[in-house]
Amino acid sequence: MKKTKLKGGSLSQVWLMEPDMGHPFVRKQVSLTKNREYGFQRWYSQLKRQERYAKMFPGIFPDVLDYGVLSDSIAYFDMEYIANSITVHDHLLVTDDSKVIDGIVEMLFITFDTMHQHSWKCARNPIELYFHEEVTTKLNDCQGHPDFDKFANADYIIFNGIEVKPITKQLEKFKRYMVEYFTLTDQTFTHGNSTLENILYVPSTKKMVFIDPYEENIIDSPLCEYSQVYQSANSKYELYNAEIPVIGDHTVEMEIPDAPGLELFNLKFRRELNNRLRQDDMRLVDLLEISQFIRMLPFKVQSGNADMMIFFFAHASNLFRVFEERL
Ligand SMILES: Nc1ncnc2c1ncn2[C@@H]1O[C@H](COP(=O)(O)OP(=O)(O)OP(=O)(O)O)[C@@H](O)[C@H]1O
Ligand SMILES: [Mg+2]
Repeated sequence: MKKTKLKGGSLSQVWLMEPDMGHPFVRKQVSLTKNREYGFQRWYSQLKRQERYAKMFPGIFPDVLDYGVLSDSIAYFDMEYIANSITVHDHLLVTDDSKVIDGIVEMLFITFDTMHQHSWKCARNPIELYFHEEVTTKLNDCQGHPDFDKFANADYIIFNGIEVKPITKQLEKFKRYMVEYFTLTDQTFTHGNSTLENILYVPSTKKMVFIDPYEENIIDSPLCEYSQVYQSANSKYELYNAEIPVIGDHTVEMEIPDAPGLELFNLKFRRELNNRLRQDDMRLVDLLEISQFIRMLPFKVQSGNADMMIFFFAHASNLFRVFEERL
């Protein structure tokens, strides 16, 4: 059987499998022995979420075909292969056609709405657990790394030439805003990690398929989903992630290529959100976008990328500055 690596290197690996007879499929495998909490446990909760969702929302998630063990140390699951697809992120790097982008925004909301139409009332307190786990704990987990400590304890840092106050020095305010603006407390079925690299698009049929769902979100709110789209489109997460930052004493710098399609998508997506949401909700989406960058910081160090941890820490601090300026 032909086996081609699609992506990997982090904790799980993704392969395109092409049997001599029969249909191609995608295999996602993970170590059963190394780093089980962030490796196997995440992979496993993702598998179960995808298995359920593929049945509940036919066509929106690839079907899970099989899962099991390859050896004593490796687990795998196989899923349907979405032929002729490209990630929405990569598609937006090669098109800036306004009509095409309108179609993508429309399709994205149709897909989200299909999942989000099922909702249930929820209390307000989960936001406190979210802040504790995804902000405070994640920042604490980075403490002790000498570069992180230097940036986190500075009075000011310089992010791409802009002076910003580290988010670590503004946590009380950050939490207060989050609690204040968390008023739409209904929860729904969510993707859980809806960055634009986790959404496949088939340009010929305009079909959209969600991959890589994520279970451990604490809050399953549509607003979290939108903030993950912002992570890609407004903050250009994938573009920054592909470059190497220049880290100085208290400065971080990184240049990314122009991406007019992504910019246009961001404008249109924000405009549509503005039509749908109240001001409080829009503010919470902005705050959640900041938290997306904080909750990932320990993973950056763990995957051997401490400079990225510093960069995204500074980026989160800058987003908070922008948030307060907009109030
Ligand atoms: N079912 C699929 N059909 C077609 N291509 C796929 C499919 N699943 C994944 N891919 C391709 O493989 C790439 C990586 O997949 P995925 O997002 O699941 O991995 P990952 O981001 O490395 O996972 P994780 O974040 O869970 O470690 C995708 O960007 C996409 O190009
Ligand atoms: Mg992915």
